[in-house]
Amino acid sequence: MLHFEETTGTFYLENDEITYAFTVENGLPEHLWFGARIPRDDLRYTRWISGTSCDAQLPGKTSENHIAAELPTYGRGDFREPMLGVRDENGNALLALTYKGYRVIPEPRLAGLPSTFGGETLEVTFEDAEKGLRAVLLYTLFADTAALTRSMRLENIGGHTLTLERAFSFAFDLPAGDYEALTLTGSWAAECAPERAPLRHGILTVNSKRVTSSATQNPFLAVMTAGADEAHGDVYGVNLVYSSSYRLLAETAQHGRVRVAGGINDFGFTWELRPGDTFQTPEAVIAYSGEGLGHLSRIFHDTYRAHLIPARFATMHRPVVINNWEATYFHFDRDKLFAIIDAAAGTGIDTFVLDDGWFGKRDDDHSGLGDWFVNTKKLVGGLDPIIEHAHEKGMKFGLWFEPEMVNPDSDLYRAHPDWAIHAPGYPVTEARNQLVLDLTRDEVRDYIVKSVNDILDTHAIDYVKWDCNRYVTEMYSSSLPAERQGEFAHRYALGLYDLFERIVAAHPGIFFEGCSSGGARFDPAILAYFPQIWTSDDTDAAMRTRIQWGTSFCYPLSAMSCHASVCPNHTTRRVTPWATRARIAHLGATGYELDTSVMSAEDLAAVPGQVADYHAMEDLVLSGDFYRLADPYGDRQFAVALVAKDGSRAHVTVMQLLRVFNCPPLRLTVPALTPDALYRVESSMGETLTLSGKTLSEVGLIAPVHRMADFESLTYTVTRL
Ligand code: GLA
Repeated sequence: MLHFEETTGTFYLENDEITYAFTVENGLPEHLWFGARIPRDDLRYTRWISGTSCDAQLPGKTSENHIAAELPTYGRGDFREPMLGVRDENGNALLALTYKGYRVIPEPRLAGLPSTFGGETLEVTFEDAEKGLRAVLLYTLFADTAALTRSMRLENIGGHTLTLERAFSFAFDLPAGDYEALTLTGSWAAECAPERAPLRHGILTVNSKRVTSSATQNPFLAVMTAGADEAHGDVYGVNLVYSSSYRLLAETAQHGRVRVAGGINDFGFTWELRPGDTFQTPEAVIAYSGEGLGHLSRIFHDTYRAHLIPARFATMHRPVVINNWEATYFHFDRDKLFAIIDAAAGTGIDTFVLDDGWFGKRDDDHSGLGDWFVNTKKLVGGLDPIIEHAHEKGMKFGLWFEPEMVNPDSDLYRAHPDWAIHAPGYPVTEARNQLVLDLTRDEVRDYIVKSVNDILDTHAIDYVKWDCNRYVTEMYSSSLPAERQGEFAHRYALGLYDLFERIVAAHPGIFFEGCSSGGARFDPAILAYFPQIWTSDDTDAAMRTRIQWGTSFCYPLSAMSCHASVCPNHTTRRVTPWATRARIAHLGATGYELDTSVMSAEDLAAVPGQVADYHAMEDLVLSGDFYRLADPYGDRQFAVALVAKDGSRAHVTVMQLLRVFNCPPLRLTVPALTPDALYRVESSMGETLTLSGKTLSEVGLIAPVHRMADFESLTYTVTRL
């Protein structure tokens, strides 16, 4: 898998699907190839497309600008975006790193940061003797997916303080070509909208300056050959295992070559690296598909299920939740919660989640955050009677927290106003009437750990929803010296992961769901702790088809928490059929978000059947292959297929979005079935057919969308006979 060829100084990272190779010449690492697996002996030939070959035709071959870099730095003629920026005490920011050696190790834990697991790691070391800097490139390759990870460790091995001005996690160059980028952009209630743009000369960047990964731009970037679609084209995808401010870029430089790079956002970033200090960058997951975006997504899904989400949760049955947020918002008492539980009991819903409003003085979003003690005025007898009631009814109990936050109107703030992030003398920006606690401070984290763990350790809690409803606006910590203020955003991330270790990892029996005003912190670092994340506060089935479609570009369905709610929908006012709302919510970790105690008898009576339908397809949600078939951004229909890895079963969901007159039936090819086997096809409209796998993948299912009204839906269950 990881191989070093001494004679040529070439590193090969290869598995059944991919080759990633670079060579070291005159101490400099040069990228050779990332793509489909090709024979080792042919790899040095790729230099003719990657870079150096150009130099043969160019006068004066000295400049690094013409090589495909593996560790690009500034100072030797490469004018493209560097991976690293380091200034010494003389103000000198030039770098001249040379190769020192390598070793192969079992995959390490990255100090203070979440990371993937289950791979084999190559460490390649470079040093700049003048600066006293060691840069170690880490590559982890998995045997079973077309993905690898990269990160970098920096060590000050000299006698003087160095200032990091940029510390990206990876960089690699692609041969000249005609490329497009796909990014996931969005906002509250409209997360992860895919956006395509041709790469032009210059730099395309996605980034966050919010100290969260953000709904504005997910930390994901795909660069693909122009015209790539779901099934065709070379696609290179990167996704950062990081939850704070980040930057990913694709730079098209001279001669049309493209550099892809990224990591911690260098906006406002500096880091003091004192003699003996080490700095570890977050991990980037890098995947290659030669069969378009669909395959790229399936690579990410497989990688995250096998190598990122905690193994005990990755493919476990997901709780089918009833959450009271849209049912009550802040206005509930014990009897109301009992009524919701009572109505849900026996329907197959198996977990009651008590959302915001149970603690402190919290009757609206103006007060209470930070005071993690039960409001016994609102909940007579505290949480225990509700927990016991849920348990008596055969349901588990979940609880909402927003540990990183504080309202100015709270006991915590009154006692420790300085614990909220602020810069003396400057205005403090409130968002949703709240401030962010300074997680860079030990005493603040200790308070959070103690107050949250006190609740978790004294109650029979099975499930936690961890929310984060705003971003950081004033990057400043009163506990950091002037020369370390540029470290704030990364130190916040380290503080957050410390909380996750001490609260989440310390409670391995509790199932945690991530949330950030919906999907504003939907990133792989969260998935390293929380097996699922609330995908969006927009629970309208029509909008959810878009949000879930976009999120699926790099996150598995099992990571997306999806609830059916009431109509008119609270966010969009749209009315959609009950069956459709449930079917769209089944394309993830499903649940309900409404007042079961006031549902119509008819809707409530449908719930047991819906939950049974979900359970029948849940294994496909947890471990199947996912195919995007009809794009909801086209405004006509939405359709997706979930296919068992062994080709024995499939589940297809179709939703009519906007019906047009004379619309033709929709052909939905179901790939990856056994061609010469027969399959029974049962549609939710009552039709049953027997078709061969070949017919299903060539002709496809013919969905009668011409007979479906707006927002009506249809499912197919496809079973090998
Ligand atoms: C956020 C979440 C919601 C809910 C509210 C509670 O908006 O996304 O699901 O938990 O907070 O305040």
